[in-house]
Amino acid sequence: MTLLQVKNLVVEFPNRRGTLRALDDISFDIAPGEILGVVGESGAGKSLTGASIIGLLEPPGRVAGGQILLEGQRIDNLGFDAMRPIRGRKIGAIFQDPLTSLNPLYTVGRQLIETIRTHLPVTESEARKRAIGLLQDTGIPAAEQRIDHFPHQFSGGMRQ
Ligand SMILES: Nc1ncnc2c1ncn2[C@@H]1O[C@H](COP(=O)(O)OP(=O)(O)OP(=O)(O)O)[C@@H](O)[C@H]1O
Ligand SMILES: [Mg+2]
Repeated sequence: MTLLQVKNLVVEFPNRRGTLRALDDISFDIAPGEILGVVGESGAGKSLTGASIIGLLEPPGRVAGGQILLEGQRIDNLGFDAMRPIRGRKIGAIFQDPLTSLNPLYTVGRQLIETIRTHLPVTESEARKRAIGLLQDTGIPAAEQRIDHFPHQFSGGMRQ
């Protein structure tokens, strides 16, 4: 069984002088429960691979070849609206710089609750309970209090 399949992925950035091929023929499979580590020098394309898979490649970057399949379904050719129910529920990413992924003006809890309620038909208080449980799962102490803190009150690892 394969959860995620990346087949011959090519990502390009067109520019004035031509086209930069940033990813050239990347292929791998991930099975449920499997952890795949990818190692490479700075600029090798690790983050770009992740961004392409979850459909968050920044224009003018584009998938110029290959396929990405999640549970056997192609997700590389889905539009933003079709990807919305999948991203954040079936697939997600924790990037190097978690501070840019969190809104500094809102508490951590508010942001977790918003994401949960985007995907599940639960009330505010149910979502809050779930969010506290998720913080506990990651090993964050005093999750009931921490949930009302702001991102700048968390450490880098806690933000991730
Ligand atoms: N918007 C862009 N326009 C042009 N080239 C880009 C763009 N974004 C990324 N690249 C190029 O794609 C390549 C891969 O970058 P990427 O961020 O995936 O590297 P990385 O392997 O994650 O590196 P690090 O270990 O430093 O995080 C780099 O050469 C980078 O310059
Ligand atoms: Mg990176």
